[in-house]
Amino acid sequence: AAAGAEGEEAPEYSDDSSDLILAPMVRIGTLPMRLLALRYGADIVYTEELIDWKTCAEEKEQVVLQMGTCDAGRALKVAKMVENDVAAVDINMGCPKEFSIKGGMGVALMGQPDKAWNILNTLVTNLSINVSCKIRILNTPEETLELVNKLVSSGIKAIGIHGRTKDERPQHAVNTDIIRYVAERISIPVIANGGSKEIEKHSDIYKFKEMTGCTSVMLARAAEWNCSIFRKEGLLPMDTVIKEYLQLAVDYDNSPSNTKYCVQNILRDLQETPRGRQFLDTIWDLGEYCQKKQSEYQKMGIKGRWQVTPDELEPPYK
Ligand code: FNR
Repeated sequence: AAAGAEGEEAPEYSDDSSDLILAPMVRIGTLPMRLLALRYGADIVYTEELIDWKTCAEEKEQVVLQMGTCDAGRALKVAKMVENDVAAVDINMGCPKEFSIKGGMGVALMGQPDKAWNILNTLVTNLSINVSCKIRILNTPEETLELVNKLVSSGIKAIGIHGRTKDERPQHAVNTDIIRYVAERISIPVIANGGSKEIEKHSDIYKFKEMTGCTSVMLARAAEWNCSIFRKEGLLPMDTVIKEYLQLAVDYDNSPSNTKYCVQNILRDLQETPRGRQFLDTIWDLGEYCQKKQSEYQKMGIKGRWQVTPDELEPPYK
């Protein structure tokens, strides 16, 4: 899989007419990962679903704020606050987790098309930026298309489709046929999602794009494991990705606990191996970098969150 890849690959097939997108991922899609994805070549990056004010100028034209909501008025109030800081707003209509469903959010909205339409239309009518939504497929192509047509009539500019039903889990095969069936029949761009299991290198993204007949591809797990999947020149080794990720985390004072979580999700099974421990040791090569940044922060009168002594850190930073 992408995460374990070593060494540079030769430049490979890529297609500059496509949009490559970092999918929304709770806790993973915080600022450093979004910037890393952009620097590696992603065209658009989604925030995690939680409302997160931390955006920056570098990503402003390419960042999509994803919101979990069940209420048009509240969604609009939040979207108005960030309207000038983000490129677009997306409504999560695919999250199958209990907290979403109980709150009438995520996949619950797919069962209430009128409510979903009203949320989207309220945003489209009152915002100066683009609005989109991200859904899952329904059981048949026809049912999925019927729902999509309704959502498209709200005025949204694009729709992300995760090719699994609400009852399917990431280990289930992704249904590219239903995504394609819809993409061939609607007028706005469809963003294909759900192919990470089969996407091990950059050129695999275009295979998924072809199979789904979409204009754009959105990656979650493949980018979580090795964000350099967006590089058309090929994957970078995991230790390079971790180092570049950590530099951004320090530069933007991302919280150490979130940073640790993201690095653990890059390392995955390797955390417990000697090789994993070696990686964690190399993270300490950034000690000097942290200190340099800290003195910059101090000069600006800011106490950065990375101002810690090694003893204060929990594993795996220790
Ligand atoms: C997700 N996913 C997700 N989806 C969403 O709409 N909002 C979210 O906040 C999240 N959070 C999230 C966290 C993590 C850690 C993962 C792995 C996934 C779902 C994700 O965007 C995507 O739809 C699926 O993972 C399928 O795409 P891939 O992984 O095959 O590219």
